[in-house]
Amino acid sequence: MALKTLVFVCFLVAAMALVVPMAEAQFGGLIGNLLGLIRVTGTVFCTADGNMGENGTATPVFPNALVQLQCGGNVVFSATTNGSGIFSILLDPLQFLLPSLLNNCNLAVKTPLSNCNATLPSVGGLFSSLQVLGNTLVGLLNIANIIPTRFRLLP
Ligand SMILES: *[C@@H]1O[C@H](CO)[C@@H](O)[C@H](O)[C@H]1NC(C)=O
Ligand SMILES: *[C@@H]1O[C@H](CO)[C@@H](O)[C@H](O)[C@H]1NC(C)=O
Ligand SMILES: *[C@@H]1O[C@H](CO)[C@@H](O)[C@H](O)[C@H]1NC(C)=O
Repeated sequence: MALKTLVFVCFLVAAMALVVPMAEAQFGGLIGNLLGLIRVTGTVFCTADGNMGENGTATPVFPNALVQLQCGGNVVFSATTNGSGIFSILLDPLQFLLPSLLNNCNLAVKTPLSNCNATLPSVGGLFSSLQVLGNTLVGLLNIANIIPTRFRLLP
């Protein structure tokens, strides 16, 4: 390939890389305004069952835990808990219909509990089904908030 052509191809690729995300962002924004978003969020605690203890304020959280959204056994989304043990997953309602999300999907914490507290199990994982907390209106954007029902430690 002549150098000139190569330079032109590089330029074209670079230009496309710039234009495509902008178009997507605009399109996504438009869809978002019309239909809203689905937000799956929650806190993973560093306890034997991953839930808040009896006295919530004193319960340690589980930071840097890999949380997967699994639907029909397939991983469809992954997130990591932050320093506060909080994870957040945003979904496009065009791809994920709420009723099917609630019926077919669950959350799985893949990082062993022993990572946050060596006395907790190093095998098995936390799982939870999903439930609707409610809706938040952010400007024109309607966000459906989905939270874990309750985590359980499964082998
Ligand atoms: C939780 O707090 C209450 C009082 O606020 C106390 O009576 C109880 O023993 C505490 N439970 C645990 C497990 O620490
Ligand atoms: C974790 O994320 C939540 C929600 O976005 C935020 O409020 C909190 O400050 C974050 N914690 C840390 C330690 O980054
Ligand atoms: C670790 O887990 C054990 C058993 O649940 C608990 O007694 C202990 O307080 C935990 N340690 C920390 C630092 O959270």
